[in-house]
Amino acid sequence: MASPGPSADGPAAQNPLTLLTLDELRQRTSVKWRMHPPDVLPLWVAELDVPLAPPVADALRRAIDLGDTGYAHGTAYAEALGDFAAERWGWHNFRVDHTRVVADVMMGIVEVLRLVTDPGDAVVVCSPVYPPFYAFVSHAGRQVIEAPLGRDLRMDRAALDEAFRRARACGRRPAFLMCNPHNPTGVVHRRDELEAVAELAGRHGLRVISDEIHAPLVLPGTQFTPYLTVAGAENAFALTSASKAWNLAGLKAALAVAGPQAVADLNRMPEEVGHGPSHLGVIAHTAAFRAGGQWLDLLLDGLDANRTLLATLLATHLPSVTYHRPEGTYLAWLDCTRLGIATEAPDGEPGVASEVAGPAKMFLDHARVALSSGHVFGTGGAGFVRLNFATSPAILTDAVTRMGRAVDAYHPSAG
Ligand SMILES: Cc1ncc(COP(=O)(O)O)c(C=O)c1O
Repeated sequence: MASPGPSADGPAAQNPLTLLTLDELRQRTSVKWRMHPPDVLPLWVAELDVPLAPPVADALRRAIDLGDTGYAHGTAYAEALGDFAAERWGWHNFRVDHTRVVADVMMGIVEVLRLVTDPGDAVVVCSPVYPPFYAFVSHAGRQVIEAPLGRDLRMDRAALDEAFRRARACGRRPAFLMCNPHNPTGVVHRRDELEAVAELAGRHGLRVISDEIHAPLVLPGTQFTPYLTVAGAENAFALTSASKAWNLAGLKAALAVAGPQAVADLNRMPEEVGHGPSHLGVIAHTAAFRAGGQWLDLLLDGLDANRTLLATLLATHLPSVTYHRPEGTYLAWLDCTRLGIATEAPDGEPGVASEVAGPAKMFLDHARVALSSGHVFGTGGAGFVRLNFATSPAILTDAVTRMGRAVDAYHPSAG
């Protein structure tokens, strides 16, 4: 049985990743826990195996007790993000009046794309990348152009230059949809890399939209740089929320933030877009940014420990899998190409996040561990799997041990 959770009076100094048992987690009804049968350990979609942070649970409880379940109002969410951004990232010129509340980060991206691009225009993404970057962009009638990451999994200046040139050539108002920190690699873009993006985007006339949903999840040893604090990013947008760090995906509310030269565009966002977020979502995300910092620090320590544990487990059980230690997020991008497992992806576009093929299918079928399949992340993803290590050390150990056994049984010489 789990040890008791943190009290409602304040966060106990415990690793939130160790507070729930597998039996407790299996009672959850979210997609992570219900997509697969109960013999499968789910380490795929980006949900966290933690209880709610006490300040968030308190705020929600209070709203329920008051029956405070009407429509959202005001700027408390943006104010909380602004204070958090100043304290954690030194973002001191954050402007609450340059923000809008949107339903969630992906819908916010689509709404910003509607402001700064036209149907048929090109949107550059750095592949492999979060699959909905393909699905939502195509669904909005824009075309995706890939700028593959370099071999070091960082953004490749020459590839960006080339993709920006192509994007410019095929559309009137192209954009670059950046992921910072990058999902699935866990790379946190450095200031000099972001300055290079701003310079290239300015030169080729692309608007930059920076998805910063993983920003609070930068692990010890690395510093997060908000794109809007970079010189040359004045006409860009950032999208963020507390969803990934505090496990609030089911409580919809995110923020679109405009750089000073993008405010006029943001002001064209239709009023009804603001009807998407839920009031309980706004309350939860506000509480997370306003009062969830101490809990977040405990989580980050736990994730840092899991990041190291994963390296040890892989070296022991899956030595031919290459692990690029992530700088941020709780996602590990594992190169399984040396396992000798066929990586043919099903026909079709990248972007269908739940589709499983190649090594992920082998691990699901033979280890009963659910991972995200690399091929859905676009060019460069086939042969990789993405593992979500925001779970207990016990579950992580069980999962990687099972994966090692499955490889030994499947392909005795490959382990
Ligand atoms: C990079 C990135 N953007 C957006 C999302 C989804 O955010 P939302 O549910 O707010 O649309 C995720 C979820 O994992 C993500 O990793």
